[in-house]
Amino acid sequence: MNSNYIAVYLHIPFCVKRCLYCDYVSTTDFSLKEEYFNALYKEIALKGEKLKDRKVRTVYFGGGTPSFVEEEFILQTFRTLQGHMDLSNLEEFTIEVNPESVDEKKVQLYKEIGINRISIGFQSTSDKILKTVGRAHDFNKGLKSYELLASFYDNINVDFILGLPYENFETVNSNLEFIEKMKPSHISYYLLDSSHNTPLKHFLEIKEMKLPEDDLVDELLDYIYDQLEKLEYNRYEISSWSLPNKECIHNQFYWYNLDYVGFGVSAGGHINNERYVNTSDVKAYITKLNDDELPYDTKNVNDEFTELLETLFMSLRLTRGITYDSLVKRFSKSLVDNVLNQTKNNLDGYISIDDSIKLTTKGLNFSRYVFEKLLEVSSI
Ligand SMILES: C[S@@+](CC[C@H](N)C(=O)[O-])C[C@H]1O[C@@H](n2cnc3c(N)ncnc32)[C@H](O)[C@@H]1O
Ligand code: SF4
Repeated sequence: MNSNYIAVYLHIPFCVKRCLYCDYVSTTDFSLKEEYFNALYKEIALKGEKLKDRKVRTVYFGGGTPSFVEEEFILQTFRTLQGHMDLSNLEEFTIEVNPESVDEKKVQLYKEIGINRISIGFQSTSDKILKTVGRAHDFNKGLKSYELLASFYDNINVDFILGLPYENFETVNSNLEFIEKMKPSHISYYLLDSSHNTPLKHFLEIKEMKLPEDDLVDELLDYIYDQLEKLEYNRYEISSWSLPNKECIHNQFYWYNLDYVGFGVSAGGHINNERYVNTSDVKAYITKLNDDELPYDTKNVNDEFTELLETLFMSLRLTRGITYDSLVKRFSKSLVDNVLNQTKNNLDGYISIDDSIKLTTKGLNFSRYVFEKLLEVSSI
């Protein structure tokens, strides 16, 4: 990929209500909306000016719930970006929407400003599951919103989570029937992460809620892999499936550890070998920018070894992995060979190291173990 390219992420931290399992940064305090967006415009102006020579290839509005805010905010954010960065090579432009807050007027504006990819959060087609985890929509609303989006777009991603309370073969089959009927161009099927400090974790601890057994989830996972393959979806990343030529371009900037700039509360960036994460506190974010300060929580410069390890970590999520040639173009050959030799010894059977470095089927199925083992690799 052209190294002058950069990806842009914008975080919109407002949700109509908080889902019980969610750990992403968002608030239901809408009184902060106006001030938040003014701060966001300022951050774009401050950081964007320094990146004027970079060609933006993808833009991604994520959240939170970007479709929850009035479309004027999305328009103004886009105009600000246009005023400070070079969007003349923009290829993929995505917005995340939720079923309960997207409507025709908003979609029309999305179309007008050039958004060409939509990501809609379903999580499940089971009303029982949706209600239990506090989603603000039921299946019927999800279906109606999907149909609205499909009348404007053919590049749509649908998010599902596997393993929420009440998950079973019936609920998964219902998700797969929806996929078969609607044929979205992209599916993200995540495995529930219940380790974060969320209301769900609390309800599990006090035994007010129960997750499906691990064995059932493993069976369901295998079943989903098989069924999606039968529907001609290609699993190109641990949690991502696409129809031909519909892989997400934006996420490849993360997976290949390329350059991206993140704007907004909790957004992260990686530019050259510098990595930063913005504060997760909405009020602190606003205050810092009001004082003309960049709202960093952490910011550091990676050495070559850390960059290489991060690149391996991320690219091994892709089923095709990463080529040896691309690694030795970016890093010194002796360092690459040293790290790969240790990895080969540590992860025999889980990883295949050839012209490409990628996980085997066993490695993909036990990816958490692989990533833990990768942390043991040293620079000497
Ligand atoms: C940034 S979130 C927000 C998307 C959007 N607001 C929504 O609710 O659909 C993106 C996706 O992460 C996934 N996600 C959120 N919390 C998760 C968790 N605890 N475990 C697994 N996936 C999760 C969901 O599929 C969600 O759609
Ligand atoms: S899953 Fe989406 S809608 Fe629910 S709280 Fe998280 S960001 Fe908001």
